[in-house]
Amino acid sequence: PLTGVLPTPPLTVGYLDYCNQTQADTMSQVDQAVALGLKDAGWKYIGIDDCWTTKTRDAGGNLVTDPVKYPRGMKWLADYVHSKGMKLASYLDAGTSTCQGYPGSRGHWQQDMKLLASYGIDYVKIDYCAGYSDPAQVRGDYQGAYTAMLNSGRRMAISISAPAYAGAGSSAFNAEMSWVGDLGNTWRVGGDVAADFSSWLQEYDITRNLAGYAAPGRFNDPDRLIITEGKSAKTTPVEWRSQMSVWAATAAPMYVGGDLRDSLPQTDGEVATLKNTDVLAVDEDPLASQGRVVSTQGDVDVISKPLANGDRALVFFNKGTGSASASVSSTTAGFPAGGTYAVKDLWSKNTSTSGGTFSSGAIPGHGAVMWRVTPRQNIRAGGTELTGAE
Ligand code: GLA
Ligand code: GLA
Repeated sequence: PLTGVLPTPPLTVGYLDYCNQTQADTMSQVDQAVALGLKDAGWKYIGIDDCWTTKTRDAGGNLVTDPVKYPRGMKWLADYVHSKGMKLASYLDAGTSTCQGYPGSRGHWQQDMKLLASYGIDYVKIDYCAGYSDPAQVRGDYQGAYTAMLNSGRRMAISISAPAYAGAGSSAFNAEMSWVGDLGNTWRVGGDVAADFSSWLQEYDITRNLAGYAAPGRFNDPDRLIITEGKSAKTTPVEWRSQMSVWAATAAPMYVGGDLRDSLPQTDGEVATLKNTDVLAVDEDPLASQGRVVSTQGDVDVISKPLANGDRALVFFNKGTGSASASVSSTTAGFPAGGTYAVKDLWSKNTSTSGGTFSSGAIPGHGAVMWRVTPRQNIRAGGTELTGAE
């Protein structure tokens, strides 16, 4: 695809109640993202999803922005988002209808992409809702979308939903994985995350096996973070942090949907968590490489992600409910043999020095320990010496 539009995974503030989303809600998410410091921490996109158009096209076959929800229109809204230093994501469906019954784009690609380009949209999520799509035509549908984007006069990033509908592990899914990276920048690998641990664990379990498909401008998308959706028995601060750690280590797009006007995200540590720039820097690292599971010990997966400056991010992810720990050698982690390492815990901010073995210490159930590991002599994984970079 066009890799320059999205060299690293997108960080998006969307709106979970998307089908009721209005101009005012969207502006509020932008304003809050700026006021709460999320924008400065790196959150860049504002998301609009399904239900932004009227139920039918106009006489010329054009999509029509819902005039009640968006009275000043999409161009005005995109200008507003841009004036705040952020980018705007929109939504289309590659079949005959969106999931909520709004017009699909099959047969209308040129005019739909031109329309989004004229608004100044930066990123287009292209859904493939079951019942309105045809798996036999899926590649042609997304090829149509991509070609129309190229002809639209605007370079827009593209997100492909089809694999989520095919279902991980199916032959249709595997066939789609062979081309999604040519026609899109991100692609959903599973269904919609529900706000509980087991749901996002499933997405992680799919994503961890797809590292070979990720590259700069091409990212597996395991759907949204559950943080900002309220604390409950099913979603705790430990889990918010472990999901963010695992998403960062797998170079996954991050999307939060909670309404930032609610006081909970602001007072409950959620916004502070989302502003952990050490963790975001791992997700946004310019090497844009998806980390791989280098060891599994009991319930703990150890993920190692190479970073552009020769460091690695290490995440010890405890999928079980009880406390657990794991350790790996520096070579298992992906470093050359031997050496000493500076270790920074990206959540506690503690720093320490390690020899050739990395030990997590106790990790609470569903928790993660996330480190940035710097070789003392700054030897790159490939063996090149960096001078004066200690
Ligand atoms: C599907 C997608 C969601 C959302 C809705 C919109 O469920 O997976 O992300 O876009 O459709 O109707
Ligand atoms: C669903 C998905 C999210 C997002 C929303 C729409 O809930 O899980 O990723 O697409 O729809 O904002």
